[in-house]
Amino acid sequence: MMIDYSALAQRWQSLALEHWATDIEALSRSRLSSATHGDFDRWCGVIASLEDAQSDAAKLEKALLGLCPWRKGPFELGGVSIDSEWRSDLKWDRVSQSVADLDGRNVLDVGCGNGYYALRMREAGAQSVIGIDPTLLFVMQFLAVNHFARDGSVFVLPLRLNELPGPARVFDTTFSMGVLYHQRSPIDHLRELNDTLRPKGQLVLETLYLPGEDAFARTPTDRYARMKNVWLLPTIAELRTWLQRSGFGDVEVIDKCVTTTDEQRATKWMSFDSLDKALDPDDSTLTIEGWPAPRRVVMTASS
Ligand SMILES: C[S@@+](CC[C@H](N)C(=O)[O-])C[C@H]1O[C@@H](n2cnc3c(N)ncnc32)[C@H](O)[C@@H]1O
Repeated sequence: MMIDYSALAQRWQSLALEHWATDIEALSRSRLSSATHGDFDRWCGVIASLEDAQSDAAKLEKALLGLCPWRKGPFELGGVSIDSEWRSDLKWDRVSQSVADLDGRNVLDVGCGNGYYALRMREAGAQSVIGIDPTLLFVMQFLAVNHFARDGSVFVLPLRLNELPGPARVFDTTFSMGVLYHQRSPIDHLRELNDTLRPKGQLVLETLYLPGEDAFARTPTDRYARMKNVWLLPTIAELRTWLQRSGFGDVEVIDKCVTTTDEQRATKWMSFDSLDKALDPDDSTLTIEGWPAPRRVVMTASS
């Protein structure tokens, strides 16, 4: 089951974004091609094999292992349990309690990964969820998951936020979880998020933060918790300023936590190094580079 572009065109129409359909379909088709990733044909083979493989759990597990690493989950697919690197259900529990009721809402999930949360949002009553994520493997994982979930109102598209054709200004809720610190220009990212929302829509922002009462942000000289692509780590006070300067109001902190190795760890489905290898072996309150260990905040704000 690949992306159903005619269903997607209908979705754009119902969102009054029909003028987006052609450009997004063209971009998505150009990304989802063997020209852009050497593993693309193999991944397509996995998805094509699911129909036959689902009669035999061992065969199905082998096929789904072909889409490793599974970072987000867990999933139960046709009798196979995917124990992903992240227990994303724990984040969803922290987030879902305090956001505006998703019932009947049209949602945008920016940096949606393999669509784990998008499907949870639909379970929570969202009318539709458009997820965008430039990592092709995650789009392919979603196609595999949706082979089982068969949800025609969730789409995961291989796009970055700044590649949307213009300000949508239609979504009721926009999520950006685990994305802000990967942006070189986080304030531009927040402004673009604001442009996705209808007036008085809700932003749900989940991101890493630094401890401290003052408003400041710091850029790692090299890596943060072994990640090369972390650019700016703000305190919560600084995040408030960024949100306000990006046009948001009603800023609220709904959760703060320290990430644990129960929530993020290596498994059979993600066998590379995980959080335990990114922390100082003698002091788990620090990363191996000497930064405060990962803390995450969930904030809501209105457009
Ligand atoms: C740390 S993961 C977070 C995934 C998921 N939202 C979560 O909270 O578990 C960050 C994701 O954001 C995606 N990403 C990075 N920059 C992005 C951008 N500008 N627009 C959309 N997605 C982006 C990455 O491909 C990656 O899958």
